[in-house]
Amino acid sequence: MSKFFVSTPIFYVNDAPHIGHAYTTILADVLSRYHRANGDEVFFLTGLDEHGQKVKQAAEKRGLSPQAHADDLAPRFLNLWKTLDIQYDDFIRTTEPRHKKIVQFVLQQVKENGDIYTDEYEGWYSVAEERFITDTEYGSGQFRDVKKLKEKNYFFKMSKYQQKLIDYIQAHPDFIRPEHRKNEMLGFLRQPLGDLCISRPKARMDWGIEIPFDHDYVTYVWFDALVNYISVPGYGSDDKKFKKWWPADVHLIGKDILTTHCVYWTTMLFSLGLELPKTIFAHGWWLIGETKMSKSLGNVVNPLDLIADYGVDAVRFYLMREMVLGLDANFTLESFIKCYNSDLANDFGNLLNRVSGLIQKNHNGQIPEPGTLTTVEEDIKQQANALPGRVKDLINDYKVQEAVTSVLAFVDVLNKYMEAQAPWKLAKTDMKAANRVLYTAAEGLRIATILLAPVMPEKTAEVLDILGAANTKPVWGQLIPGAVLRAHPALFPRIEVEKA
Ligand code: ME8
Ligand code: MG
Repeated sequence: MSKFFVSTPIFYVNDAPHIGHAYTTILADVLSRYHRANGDEVFFLTGLDEHGQKVKQAAEKRGLSPQAHADDLAPRFLNLWKTLDIQYDDFIRTTEPRHKKIVQFVLQQVKENGDIYTDEYEGWYSVAEERFITDTEYGSGQFRDVKKLKEKNYFFKMSKYQQKLIDYIQAHPDFIRPEHRKNEMLGFLRQPLGDLCISRPKARMDWGIEIPFDHDYVTYVWFDALVNYISVPGYGSDDKKFKKWWPADVHLIGKDILTTHCVYWTTMLFSLGLELPKTIFAHGWWLIGETKMSKSLGNVVNPLDLIADYGVDAVRFYLMREMVLGLDANFTLESFIKCYNSDLANDFGNLLNRVSGLIQKNHNGQIPEPGTLTTVEEDIKQQANALPGRVKDLINDYKVQEAVTSVLAFVDVLNKYMEAQAPWKLAKTDMKAANRVLYTAAEGLRIATILLAPVMPEKTAEVLDILGAANTKPVWGQLIPGAVLRAHPALFPRIEVEKA
């Protein structure tokens, strides 16, 4: 047994969550459930990023204070996570005192380490964009409300840690995953790294955590948000808890926030003298056509609509099954329906329907006696017993899609076995053989179901209940002959395309 600390990004409360946010959160939940099933102690952290310009603007648009706006949006995330069966261990909102206190503590520490200095910056400032623009951008004439601005700010000496970071990434091949993202970061680090401006004068942007050593400033939203990964597990407040959980096993992120995590966050940790997370895993984007699904583009898929139409587990399954971790994937209703119909309705659902239907019809609704297994069944038994270890290895290696498909491949083996043995025919000529086949298929189904439970917690619980096998382990032989099967409707009825 070991510990597993997994985090998602904390999402901006500038709008309601979409499939992209749901994806990372479901992924963290699926990994957590696999680890819990293997006896690991899990800490799954998620939450909301409530400060900064984006949130402030979103609030202004609605005529609300930023806090009122965040308070209004937070329940939408919480309700969605509840609907999606997300079992997180803590949920942080960056406006909570327990977090703000630690951000200020961190700023103080980094300053005491000599890594914060002030500087006056003069440049073109776009009021419309609320940021300094480069001379080239200024020259393009595409920016409105531009003025020369001279501003004092606080800077973090990120450049000081550039070489240390490069060396660390090279010495720890599992630190940034997948491999191509690691190479992207090493490429980025070939250019000289600047220092990071970590303050905003309140006169210009006041929605943030006050800098403890200068009351006229708030800290930059990333210097605030990233700290959640240590503020929640007890840094600066609960040494025992912190020692237990830190370093995180994995920060799951989308590729959009690779640099902030791999460069800003890690150099902050260097300055604090803390260990780095074991892995930062950047997954790809869900695309609509060629473009990223994003709030600002307004092309988002609302997970609640999909859940209402097809159920939670179908949505969780599709997201895990369809995206190869690290690559982009296209979200289309066609591919959703195709995946559902072929994997869930035709393969998994069909195996259950056939097995339970035949047991009802020919075996008094009771799990039959296996009798003596032939080499065919011995082979299936061996495959079934090898599967949990294989799934575990794939999950530990963040190959979730392969883990799911390896279970489905076994379901396929069972369907083909049923087809070849035809227990509906055997029932008329050789009842012992029919018993053996149905026991084998049902037992294989039970083990496959347990291995899919982290992905589809509701439907798999139903299948195990139907088989009278709740709380059993994925080891051959736990299905009890004589146990009465529960009658049930089809768990994964086919989606008719006209209807969709
Ligand atoms: O960046 N495909 O928050 P955010 C896949 N507050 N994943 C997607 C996605 C898509 N189309 N769109 C969003 C922030 N995501 C900061 C993070 S962390 C200390 C602070 C997911 O609301 C993905 O995980 O913009 C991405 O990294 C995250 O949402 C960005 O959420
Ligand atoms: Mg974003």
